[in-house]
Amino acid sequence: MKKISVAGTGYVGLVTGVCMAENGHNVTCVDIDEQKVQMMRDGRSPIYETGLEALMVKNIEAGRLHFTTDYQSAYKDAEAVFIGVGTPEREDGSANLSYLATVARQVAESIKNDCLVVVKSTVPVGTNDKVEQFIKDFLIKDVRVEIASNPEFLAQGSAVKDTLEADRIVIGTETEWAEKILTDIYEPFGLPIVSVNRKSAEMIKYASNDFLALKISYMNDIANLCELVGADVQDVARGMSFDDRIGSKFLNAGIGYGGSCFPKDTKALEYIARQNGYELKTVKAAIDVNNQQKSMLYKKASKRLITFSGLKVAVLGLTFKPGTDDLREAPSLENIPMLLSEGADIYAYDPVGAENFAKVHPEGKHGNGSITYVSNPEHALEDANVCFIFTEWGEIKEVSPQKFADLMRTPLVYDGRNIHPVKEMVEASVEYYSVGRPSTV
Ligand code: UGA
Repeated sequence: MKKISVAGTGYVGLVTGVCMAENGHNVTCVDIDEQKVQMMRDGRSPIYETGLEALMVKNIEAGRLHFTTDYQSAYKDAEAVFIGVGTPEREDGSANLSYLATVARQVAESIKNDCLVVVKSTVPVGTNDKVEQFIKDFLIKDVRVEIASNPEFLAQGSAVKDTLEADRIVIGTETEWAEKILTDIYEPFGLPIVSVNRKSAEMIKYASNDFLALKISYMNDIANLCELVGADVQDVARGMSFDDRIGSKFLNAGIGYGGSCFPKDTKALEYIARQNGYELKTVKAAIDVNNQQKSMLYKKASKRLITFSGLKVAVLGLTFKPGTDDLREAPSLENIPMLLSEGADIYAYDPVGAENFAKVHPEGKHGNGSITYVSNPEHALEDANVCFIFTEWGEIKEVSPQKFADLMRTPLVYDGRNIHPVKEMVEASVEYYSVGRPSTV
């Protein structure tokens, strides 16, 4: 059992802390927000994540999980401090490392014993070398401190499972001392460990995310071609997936990838390449295809309808994917303003994301258009002239083809997630447009 502190209680920090406690370590999570800390002490999670609160309560009760705003006491005798603060994107695509620098300095000024600082945040290759020097510059005691890179591969909505049952743990260290501490910490997880140097670990994170983004953009590109030549991208993906060099995952064409990771990490790696005098053409292409993909359905619908003005538009799904209340880079954020500016009356449904969306686009009039948030898909569809599907929530998948036909004034559906078989929608007399599939059978 090790004494661990975790800086930052966002997705990465909180899930890391909770899963470390679940594996027997004594964990203190640090955040600057007193209210948030109190909430977490009570076993309530500030983020929506399946299974997280139950594990929080269990480990708080077992005395292994603590929350505090007092970073000095949390860091002073920790054997390892995990840093999971955000590295948001700057306008030029580079990563903003100011949160990381603040924590690094706090750690340097607090530690009284030898300590391994483990950076989980996604950072440009070479950053951890600089962080190590930075911490050493600010140390107030003569102790041994080193930095390890330990990138995170959790996805929102399945973060706990992705951490406890990860495919691999990547650790990037420069000395045996650091490698041993980190391998000991992860030993109770019983997962494969890939031990590399720090720069390679930093690169593994970007290379993995960007590869997945590339896979999605590739399928979206193929989907757009499928539409033009009359092929069906779902059949194409199925046919490809039997080749285990390709694999069956992340082959779903749709309305483009969103979230806090793929858009940011593709731009960041492209930026890193540019800084090094190299053009990362594949990743650039993934970004371009994704930008184009997000407004594809809207453009299709604009061609079919003369105007959205005065039309009742049902929107099903607002978050960037199911299982999260996160809206970052969600296709809805791009499409809804375009619909509103054309005077559409939007009725939007999302099982958890509506509240966050309303903070950006409050309910009511927006120019000639308006937006109303409803508590079930049926209400959104009632009397609607057209429907857009942006997220494949279970509650949205359950809406049967017949319901679209029965409830809508004109059953015209643009599905960005290929939820229903085309045949079933056509048989229910729904005019149905999806991504990379024929609209008729
Ligand atoms: C992603 C990675 O999957 C994680 O491995 C990684 O740790 C994480 O980023 C991160 O860097 O923190 P996440 O962004 O939470 O996780 O969500 P994903 O499930 O990967 O989905 C990202 C986007 O791709 C979503 O908008 C989703 O709808 C889209 N997607 C995914 C597709 O359009 N097609 C697919 O086949 C799969």
